[in-house]
Amino acid sequence: MSKKKLIVLTGAGISAESGLKTFRDSDGLWEGYDIAEVATPRAWRKDPKLVLEFYNMRRRNVAEANPNAAHFGLAELEKDFDVQIITQNIDDLHERAGSTNILHLHGEIFKMRSEADESLVYEIRGDINIGDTAEDGAQLRPHIVWFEEPVTLIEEAARIASTADIFVVVGTSLVVYPAAGLVNYAPIDCPKFIVDKKVPYTSSLYNLTTIEKPATEGVKKLKEKLKNIM
Ligand code: APR
Repeated sequence: MSKKKLIVLTGAGISAESGLKTFRDSDGLWEGYDIAEVATPRAWRKDPKLVLEFYNMRRRNVAEANPNAAHFGLAELEKDFDVQIITQNIDDLHERAGSTNILHLHGEIFKMRSEADESLVYEIRGDINIGDTAEDGAQLRPHIVWFEEPVTLIEEAARIASTADIFVVVGTSLVVYPAAGLVNYAPIDCPKFIVDKKVPYTSSLYNLTTIEKPATEGVKKLKEKLKNIM
């Protein structure tokens, strides 16, 4: 029998127990930083050094973090399901936990690209500095989707979401669009689950089960529930 297609949309909450800050919880990243100063094209034009420093720091944080039981739990689901992860996270904790199908909607912290040609993308483990250039001679910038920039992978993500037999959301406040709208592309009657420490409000999702727990515990609960609909 072929495996059911399980689509999982993840956000910062799944990496919180790995020690990476979320954005909008109290003590979240956006409490200490002004989005407009570090995560917009305007910020990059005004003070690229500050922007690079912000992402260099985040790259170091991710390098020091490890996947937690929630990342591992989702990777293990590949035994029984055809799992596709759509993550808003720029960390690589899903990869390191062993998940094999991952779409990074908002970019990846371990990649950088030419500021002039977005097709020139490179791996980066250390810092990006002013004066570091791509092969076209242009300054290198983080391979991150900033606010006000288009989310180029959203159409592919929406197409994937529409193929779901089961749709799961883990650790996202569902306030940032277009990512937050993906759940609406899942077929109306497909079972949906939201795992979150504090489940966000969603309007009229049919066949929805909420699991209000930290991600590590919540994904364990989710796996028990999924046993019944394999
Ligand atoms: N376990 C499960 N959920 C948690 C945990 C935890 N341990 N800790 C926090 N959460 C939940 C919060 O309740 C909240 O619903 O994770 C969510 C985090 O929400 P945000 O901080 O808004 O993060 P996210 O939804 O990923 O943000 C979306 O916004 O700033 C941009 O590009 C950035 O990709 C990011 C996007």
